[in-house]
Amino acid sequence: MHLTAYNGSPRKDGNTHHMLTRLFGPLEAAGITCEEICVGGVAVRGCLACGKCREHPGRCAQTEDPMNEWIARMLAADAIVLASPTYFANVTTEMKALIDRAGYSCVATKMLARKVGAPVVAARRGGAIQVYNTLMAFFGINEMIVPMSNYWNMGYGLEPGAVREDAEGMRTMEKLGEQMAWLMRKLC
Ligand SMILES: Cc1cc2nc3c(=O)[nH]c(=O)nc-3n(C[C@H](O)[C@H](O)[C@H](O)COP(=O)(O)O)c2cc1C
Repeated sequence: MHLTAYNGSPRKDGNTHHMLTRLFGPLEAAGITCEEICVGGVAVRGCLACGKCREHPGRCAQTEDPMNEWIARMLAADAIVLASPTYFANVTTEMKALIDRAGYSCVATKMLARKVGAPVVAARRGGAIQVYNTLMAFFGINEMIVPMSNYWNMGYGLEPGAVREDAEGMRTMEKLGEQMAWLMRKLC
C-alpha cells in the first residue's frame, strides 16, 4: 500500500514537512510506503477551464509544468494527503492549483473515488480551519474516504520546525497516521 502526500509549502524543511514526517511514522510502521511531493515553490498555473480534461480524464491539457506527473502519482496511490500552510487564511497558491487542476481532471469520472484522503494544515495563529475545509472539499467531491484524528489536523508554529513544540498538534498527526493505517488495512 502506498500513500502520496502533497506539501504546499515552499519551505522544504518547514512546519508542514515536520507534520508529515510525524504522520508517516505510524503508517510506515504498518508497512505502508509514504512519499512527500513538494508542490510549494513550483511554478504552476491555475486551471484554464478549457475543458480538455473531459476528453482525456486524468490529464491536464497544460503540459509545461509537473501537474500531470502529480496527477499520475495521485491515481497510483491508495491514499492521498493534501498538506498546506495557511496563507492569508487559505491554502497556498500552488496547493490551490493542484486542487483545481487535479480535481477537475479526475472528478467527472470519479477516478479518485474510495481512495483514502486526509488534510493537514500548518498555521501560525489564525485561519487554519478554513484551510482544513478547503482541503476537505477536494476529498468530499471526489467521493474519497476520510479518517479522522482526535482533533482537526492542524499544527501551530511560525518559524520552520517550530511546530515540533506544538505537542498537541504533533499528537494529532500521530493519531491521524494510526487511523489512516487502520482504515487502509480495511479498504485496500
Ligand atoms: C504569505 C504568508 C501568509 C501567511 N498567512 C497566515 C495566516 O493567514 N494565518 C496564520 O496563522 N499564519 C499565516 N502565515 C504563517 C504560516 O502559515 C506558518 O508560518 C506556517 O507554519 C508555515 O508552514 P511551513 O513552514 O510549512 O511553510 C503566513 C505565512 C506567509 C508566508
